Amino acid sequence: QAAAAAPAAPNGCAANGHANGHANGADVTKAEPFVMLGGLEGHVEGILRCRRIVFIACGTSYHACLAARKTLEDFAAMPVVVELAGDFMDREAPVFRDDTCVFVSQSGETADTLRALEYAKNKGALCVGVTNTVGSAISNATHCGVHLNAGFEIGVASTKAYTSQIVALTMVALLLGADSRAKAPKRLEAMRALARLPEDVSRALALDEDMRALAGQLKDAQSLIFFGRGYNYSTALEAALKVKEVALIHSEGINAGEMKHGPLALVDENLPIIVIATQDGMHRKMVSVIEQLLARNGKLIILCNGDDPDMDAFAARGCSLIRVPATVDALQPIVNIVPLQLLSYHLTTLRGFNVDQPRNLAKSVTVT
Ligand code: M6R
Repeated sequence: QAAAAAPAAPNGCAANGHANGHANGADVTKAEPFVMLGGLEGHVEGILRCRRIVFIACGTSYHACLAARKTLEDFAAMPVVVELAGDFMDREAPVFRDDTCVFVSQSGETADTLRALEYAKNKGALCVGVTNTVGSAISNATHCGVHLNAGFEIGVASTKAYTSQIVALTMVALLLGADSRAKAPKRLEAMRALARLPEDVSRALALDEDMRALAGQLKDAQSLIFFGRGYNYSTALEAALKVKEVALIHSEGINAGEMKHGPLALVDENLPIIVIATQDGMHRKMVSVIEQLLARNGKLIILCNGDDPDMDAFAARGCSLIRVPATVDALQPIVNIVPLQLLSYHLTTLRGFNVDQPRNLAKSVTVT
């Protein structure tokens, strides 16, 4: 199975209805485009009335929730919290009857997430499932939800499920915010960007050869650091998880806003640092991060958009660039992760490991 894969196409049928099989999609061909998610039919009002949305997930699925959090906050104008299922249950965190808890899981069988679902259900919360597996325990036990329809994900490392989860959660956000007139232009822009996403992801996949060459340079590194913030904090976390999981290299994803609170001490001319600096709302801050890393002789690889003049200047100062297509902020993490998935894939094969079956890991973690 390829390490990187395009998300399910959002235009037409990104995901099937959860319980009732209604079609879903973002129809941008009509004058008034709209998002339809059959599996949430009859529940949208209830979700909009709730006190807050609580995302609960593990691993890569947790990262997808982090990537989509701000999109939900922006479009649905609701408080959103994101919880690791295991930690949530360790704390037996408070859940209220007027909460909506969203359980995101590729397999739909992850034990910690399932346990959190039973717990939240007992507290009376509305429970929504976002899974890639029809008939899974989580999709059966939730009140409503969205199926990803990303196809079987066979390799242990989650790749296409991650990108498809962000697509599905973005569509949920667009659906919840559908009545906001103030958000209408931004919503239309996001829907058009969703329709263009397959093309953007194809262009990111075309970086395969470049990523193989980069992996050749990085394969003997002791450690790799990824810096991101805002929407792309999740990209940093997810890329680091992929590198450690399949390439078996120590790797950390760090919120660039935390750089001065400790991580800066690690920076020298030897440690490879990948900085995610695409032209989203965090771009100016990331340019400043790059300046500060360069001032400490950091060895930088910058993931950026194709036509960013700031980055040309950094290339002239010795930084390597990974150029990806630009899209709206909410979808940029989907495009950004693709070359980093490819990088993990090539690091793995060049180091002689099995990309589909990393040591010590199972595809789905069904024990707590
Ligand atoms: O099936 P789930 O999405 O609930 O699985 C959660 C994690 O176990 C999973 O994402 C894991 O982190 C992946 N192997 C990462 O690639």
